Amino acid sequence: MKCVSLFRRGDHSWQAFGQDPDKPERVIDTNQYLVRSGTAAILLDPGGIEVFPSMLAALTREIAVEEVKALFLSHQDPDIGSSLPLWRRVCPPGLTVYLPWLWEGFVSHFDREATFTRIPDEGMEIALSSATRLRFLPAHYLHSSGNFHVYDPAARILFSGDVGTALFPASQRPNGLFVTDFARHIPAMSEFHRRWMPSAAARDAWVAAVSTLEIDILAPQHGLIFRGDDVKRFIEWFATLDLASGLASMRR
Ligand SMILES: [Fe+2]
Ligand SMILES: [Fe+2]
Repeated sequence: MKCVSLFRRGDHSWQAFGQDPDKPERVIDTNQYLVRSGTAAILLDPGGIEVFPSMLAALTREIAVEEVKALFLSHQDPDIGSSLPLWRRVCPPGLTVYLPWLWEGFVSHFDREATFTRIPDEGMEIALSSATRLRFLPAHYLHSSGNFHVYDPAARILFSGDVGTALFPASQRPNGLFVTDFARHIPAMSEFHRRWMPSAAARDAWVAAVSTLEIDILAPQHGLIFRGDDVKRFIEWFATLDLASGLASMRR
């Protein structure tokens, strides 16, 4: 599994893990993010059970697993957190697991012994360390009915969950983890966003909210990461996209 650095200032850092060559073909590719500050580390959307061995191996090349003090699950999907019981086995006792309150009863099907810190609908801010704060921003219905993104104002990075996803056929796998040509990247994003994003009202609220933030990097849970002007290009592209394409098959 690849690991790239997104940000580093002193002991505050962001790293992205993804594009696992050992992943079975039909398992959707995911990006996992590690945020560190001081002696604390949090994993954002730590991934599914199938990528856990590769992810743990890649992570422990960077950090001792004992330093992972918290997990953040943006929503309920299996590619987000079906690995939860495995992480709880290797991380130190007292691991904090942040989860949208709405999904507690459902995600407990992955791990009935996990204890969750429930994120309220309006979001919350946490202190990763005395120097670094992270904001869990509401992103409901994008695509999940209880869903959060993570903004780091010091690093100017927005972890955007499934928003920003790109999917590639095996024959067109990208080399790096970053978008290099936005116009050519659009076909890899279009179908996913049209089908999986159900609500234009939610999209509009998200666009209005993130447009007030200073974002140098927009980091999705699948596909490639947006940097610099491509962040604005993505938000502008998403702002006018037709959504909920599945409705077409329900109309007579
Ligand atoms: Fe999802
Ligand atoms: Fe996903």
